[in-house]
Amino acid sequence: MSVDLKRLAGEAALAHVESGMRLGLGTGSTAEAFVRALGARVAEGLQVVGVPTSDRTAALAESLSIPLTTLEDVTELNLTIDGADEIGPDLVLIKGGGGALLREKIVAAASRKMIVIADGSKLVQTIGAFPLPIEVVPFGLGSTTLKIEAAAQALGLQGPVALRRTSEGAPYLTDGGHFILDASFRRIPDPKALAEALATIPGVVEHGLFIGLASLAIIARTSGVETISR
Ligand code: A5P
Repeated sequence: MSVDLKRLAGEAALAHVESGMRLGLGTGSTAEAFVRALGARVAEGLQVVGVPTSDRTAALAESLSIPLTTLEDVTELNLTIDGADEIGPDLVLIKGGGGALLREKIVAAASRKMIVIADGSKLVQTIGAFPLPIEVVPFGLGSTTLKIEAAAQALGLQGPVALRRTSEGAPYLTDGGHFILDASFRRIPDPKALAEALATIPGVVEHGLFIGLASLAIIARTSGVETISR
């Protein structure tokens, strides 16, 4: 996505923000565009408080003087605005390409409303071309990976389930100190069944299937902004 489309999506999301709101702040380059646009409004006097979904979003929000809080102090949020790696029918999302899926899901679930912002390339008919991020505890990694592969196979899904690594080759660590497995199933025709199966596997902390969380998508294209409601 070009920077301009990210900015366009982020700025369009601002129309849904009202003074006094408690906001979930997503992670990724599109969410970052929103946070920057929000920071400009806060500098002009908009009163909001944000819960960041990652350490890097927290750092960005702090640099823009956006007031932050936690889900201990504020247990319910008005609105979360976040990006996605894929957006399928019924606004089922794949998230976690940026490694923040666990906090992103907790924050989205604590919000009355979630808006997903993206460019048109993220819209798909069937999700799964983007490898599904699955956050796992380091203990038992080999066994957990086998269980994920078996659960997927039982649903007719196949493909490599690979440990995410840093550019230096070390296992990628999430903000919560967990690993991420990226599952390249190519097509996930029944996301709900896969989500249910993954949730039963010990060692799986969370997965990047966001089902029933986003209620609105703001899609930026060179031709303009489109909104899709669930
Ligand atoms: C972060 O963990 C992800 O869920 C991001 O929301 C997703 O990767 C989208 O990122 P971009 O906006 O950078 O494409």
